[in-house]
Amino acid sequence: MVVNRRIVFNQVKATGLPEPGVTTRPEQTEIDLDNVALNGGVLVRNVAASLDPTMRNRMKGGVYFTPNYVKDEPILCIGISEVLRSELDAYKPGDLIFIWSQPLEEYSVLPRQLVEQAGRKMDVPTNGLSITTYLGAAGMAGMTAYMSIKEIIGDRLQPGTTMFVTGAAGAVGQLVVQIARQAGVKVIASAGSDDKCRFLREELGCEAVFNYKTADPFEELKKFGGERGIDFYFDNVGGTQLEAYIEHSAKYGIIVACGYISGYNADKPEDIVYPKNLFKVVTRELTYRGFIVSSFIQKHLASFLAEIPQMIADGKIKVKEDVTFGVLGAEDAFLRLFTGDNEGKVAVLIDVDHADKWNLGERKKTAKVWQ
Ligand SMILES: NC(=O)c1ccc[n+]([C@@H]2O[C@H](COP(=O)([O-])OP(=O)(O)OC[C@H]3O[C@@H](n4cnc5c(N)ncnc54)[C@H](OP(=O)(O)O)[C@@H]3O)[C@@H](O)[C@H]2O)c1
Repeated sequence: MVVNRRIVFNQVKATGLPEPGVTTRPEQTEIDLDNVALNGGVLVRNVAASLDPTMRNRMKGGVYFTPNYVKDEPILCIGISEVLRSELDAYKPGDLIFIWSQPLEEYSVLPRQLVEQAGRKMDVPTNGLSITTYLGAAGMAGMTAYMSIKEIIGDRLQPGTTMFVTGAAGAVGQLVVQIARQAGVKVIASAGSDDKCRFLREELGCEAVFNYKTADPFEELKKFGGERGIDFYFDNVGGTQLEAYIEHSAKYGIIVACGYISGYNADKPEDIVYPKNLFKVVTRELTYRGFIVSSFIQKHLASFLAEIPQMIADGKIKVKEDVTFGVLGAEDAFLRLFTGDNEGKVAVLIDVDHADKWNLGERKKTAKVWQ
């Protein structure tokens, strides 16, 4: 028997911030790694987990596009797991699975159907990237940026065009900014702290930046877009900044509607800000297109994997990650997504004992380890 630490869903909380110990709670169980029944599936050691803002929407008890979390069961996230035992022909011990529905715990038995429908075999990184990068810039966050820009903006991403990016220092945002900059697009980016704004200007090369907590987005976008307005908006947050873009959009502008984090933790429905100027979507003939990244995977996964991880390894794409060591730190890490205290992609290295193998040994030396 070994200890199996995990984070389970504790109770529905429809409003306000998620609360460690209330919305979720840590738990310690045991598992017999040699004898636990696999029932046709695989036993895995969960290596790393991605914490994503949208997980908050599965804690609210409403109707969402993925199922709500189940009380007293581990919360589910995107993750990477290592096979320990297998009853599936396609997987053997040592194989890595990138899985879209990983229980947030140290060890799991994953059913055959889940692995076949929501899993993909992946190689252990040999290019020096950490395993968590394969959940962030080289994983779902990177896919979100890369695939939605390709699908929604496509050939219109040309040198000299302009783009507004919100949540720009975050996991998705930093990739969007760099993909746009490399295409010659002039970017105005916003974030919630002066340090994040400095990173965006000095390290990622944004032409203009502003701290949305202290500056007026309407004024900033007006200054940047001038009479012509701004061509594209990559929207990670919604709310007032969406309204500000619509106000200062160019004719035939495109809104890539990625997320609405400004509304995820509202205390009351009436606190959520919806644009009051939607009629300008009509008069400026804007394209306003939402998407779920999983819809684009089949079409774009191969080119994404061929291009982006190598660009990161070569230093052509910069990556900031907020890595927590140990599954018990996941509740705190999740909260950082909403307070803005995260520095880039929020991920958890669950398999802390093998940090070197996952290219996180150096970072572990100075990190708090949650055990
Ligand atoms: N459509 C899809 O398929 C898809 C896929 C992945 C992600 N998403 C969405 O993309 C967005 C970014 O996700 P991510 O994983 O890259 O997260 P992230 O940006 O790494 O972290 C979340 C960031 O949101 C900002 N934030 C928090 N509360 C806010 C508020 N009230 N108003 C404005 N900004 C706020 C914070 O940055 P500041 O310090 O700058 O405030 C925080 O760092 C989210 O809306 C997410 O749901 C969509």
